[in-house]
Amino acid sequence: MEFRNVLFTELKLRNMTLPNRIIRSATYEGWGEADGTPKPELADVYSELARGGVGTIITGFAFVSKVGRAMHPGQCGIDSDDKIGPWRRIIAKVREANPDVKLVMQIAHTGRQTRRQVTGQPVVGASDRPCTYFRQHPRVLDDNSILDIINDFAYAAYRAIRAGFDAVQIHAAHGYLIHQFLSSWTNARTDRWADRPLLLEKVISAVRSKCGYDFPILVKLSAAEDRSPGIRVEDTIETAKRLEKLEIDAVEISYGTMEYALNIIRGAVPIDAVLRVNPMFNRIPGLLKSFWKKFCAPAYLRKFIPFEEDYNLQSASRIWSETELPVICVGGIRTLESMVGIIDSFGIDAIALCRPLICEPDIPRKILSGEFTKSKCTNCNLCTIYCDSQQPLRCYQKKGNAQ
Ligand SMILES: Cc1cc2nc3c(=O)[nH]c(=O)nc-3n(C[C@H](O)[C@H](O)[C@H](O)COP(=O)(O)O)c2cc1C
Repeated sequence: MEFRNVLFTELKLRNMTLPNRIIRSATYEGWGEADGTPKPELADVYSELARGGVGTIITGFAFVSKVGRAMHPGQCGIDSDDKIGPWRRIIAKVREANPDVKLVMQIAHTGRQTRRQVTGQPVVGASDRPCTYFRQHPRVLDDNSILDIINDFAYAAYRAIRAGFDAVQIHAAHGYLIHQFLSSWTNARTDRWADRPLLLEKVISAVRSKCGYDFPILVKLSAAEDRSPGIRVEDTIETAKRLEKLEIDAVEISYGTMEYALNIIRGAVPIDAVLRVNPMFNRIPGLLKSFWKKFCAPAYLRKFIPFEEDYNLQSASRIWSETELPVICVGGIRTLESMVGIIDSFGIDAIALCRPLICEPDIPRKILSGEFTKSKCTNCNLCTIYCDSQQPLRCYQKKGNAQ
């Protein structure tokens, strides 16, 4: 089928009509003040995407509470009412750039995937099993603390509405708190939360009752992960069936956790940049770094799965076949042929892009004018590694964007 009839048709999710099937997947932008207030420059990032023809923009993960903050220094939040005004001003500017663009806020709680040095509070989790990457023992959440977190998600979503967002996406992927409850690797509970999808269901219900029936709710899930026992595609199908009963509006299918963070995105592992920028490594003295690079890095590199195009498509397709939920596929989508095929041949409802749009924010416009067949993104992954620096997000392959 002609690409225009596949990619550039509307998709209705509850009361939100996406102008086309190309979504900017949630992407940390690094434009938050120290307290998580979004800086005005974030409007320029979204406006460029909106002018470039992306139908829907999902924000980088916004924290719902301070204890749920990530290690990235410029993360934005939606944890307090004083952040509504700054978000509202950003949205107004983006709508000036393109009034049709749909704006979705991704809301998240990091659980054990953060550091006490960042949150100023003990790290919390579904169980006391530490994340091998962050290496801090979580305090096990009790029933009351879990109910507080559910409330935090509901209030965060309500603030997103008041700021003018069209929808929220609940981040239940990549090893963050909700994922920790979904996974048998981290959920060793014996209370009611041993029913692994229960926290996600309660968060969805709380968001719905706070925000009303018309407000669309999207969910991002990791279909599988690098641990065993852990989430398998069959578990995710079961979770998706339960979400179907709650009438969520779409599920985006991703992969993995921060334990093997580069398996979420695949591609190069830029070791030198990791040793320079990452707070887990950058304080190691130079000589030890050289030792680590020579003797430990080979084993470290073997943990990573090589890049493959459309690497979440099989999982997304299974979830699409076994549920009635609208499905968004993300991960390694790089060519026009793939974008069209994922929707036209597999029936998936929309595709989401992250790194290709960091590299070229106007891909949809280029598709329409015949200038795009393949993304220029090389999966060098420097954009990812620099999320841990004070630098806002950018593509390091572009001329003038030195490290
Ligand atoms: C720099 C960077 C920041 C990201 N930030 C987020 C985020 O805030 N929330 C999220 O769910 N995924 C995040 N991701 C993952 C992407 O949304 C996406 O799932 C992944 O990059 C695979 O898509 P791609 O191959 O099109 O890059 C990020 C990825 C990158 C490279």
